[in-house]
Amino acid sequence: SANINLMIKAARKAARGLVRDFGEVENLQVSMKSAGDFVSKADMKAEEIIRQELMEGRPNYGWLGEESAEVKGADPTRRWIVDPLDGTTNFLHGMPHWAISIALEHKKEIVAGVVYDPVKDEMFVAEKGNGAWLNDRRIRVSGRRDMIEMVFATGVPFATKGDLPETLKDLGRLMPHCAGVRRWGAASLDLAYVAAGRYDGYWERSLNAWDIAAGLVLVKEAGGLQAPIEEDESILESGSVIVSNEAVHERFTKIIRNQ
Ligand code: IPD
Ligand code: CA
Ligand code: CA
Ligand code: CA
Repeated sequence: SANINLMIKAARKAARGLVRDFGEVENLQVSMKSAGDFVSKADMKAEEIIRQELMEGRPNYGWLGEESAEVKGADPTRRWIVDPLDGTTNFLHGMPHWAISIALEHKKEIVAGVVYDPVKDEMFVAEKGNGAWLNDRRIRVSGRRDMIEMVFATGVPFATKGDLPETLKDLGRLMPHCAGVRRWGAASLDLAYVAAGRYDGYWERSLNAWDIAAGLVLVKEAGGLQAPIEEDESILESGSVIVSNEAVHERFTKIIRNQ
């Protein structure tokens, strides 16, 4: 659709700057927002590029981005939810695992999402009702059925968020029953990898809407299931999420919820 094309265009444009900055940390004026939460000129520049591109293309939509002020749109039912650089810690440490995440929300539902990993040139795209795609290939969540063969991903947020003890307990309950758990540090890619059938499932606490909005529609359109960690919460508002293929969803959710 026209919105998807605009989102892809904005992601590619921001990616060009980020790829240039990757590996040039000395020039990026790195600072910490709170313990462990880095931000740099690269994050700011990328967000500005995406904001300009999207706001110019759809002047009446609202805006929620990690590094700039929220904008209420003339159309209150539609807004962009953007993380200009997801995986900043990896980026600043020279590790090639980070992405740009752009989502479109309509009436409180995410209707389109783009997650772009420029280093690997992987463009993950999903739109409500149109399936999920990686570059030109349709993607699906994994078809594995036995938890003991499955690989999961998680993230442990910054020290200040206080979720480390909970996540360590989750690991203790899950790890004896699966093939492995990865912790790569870019939530948008964790979700995209579940959509692509690479990870069989993923869970994490205390994220923000911009980390997960695009990834959630990818998982949904790829046939995956999603749930909040606390039963009656909203995933986007709480930022706590469980996703997986259908086969393992009930068992996985019970393990994370300690039920
Ligand atoms: C972070 C990443 C990471 C997650 C953190 C996020 P950022 O985003 O998604 O995987 O564990 O909680 O804040 O700060 O690199 O955009
Ligand atoms: Ca951040
Ligand atoms: Ca993020
Ligand atoms: Ca970010």
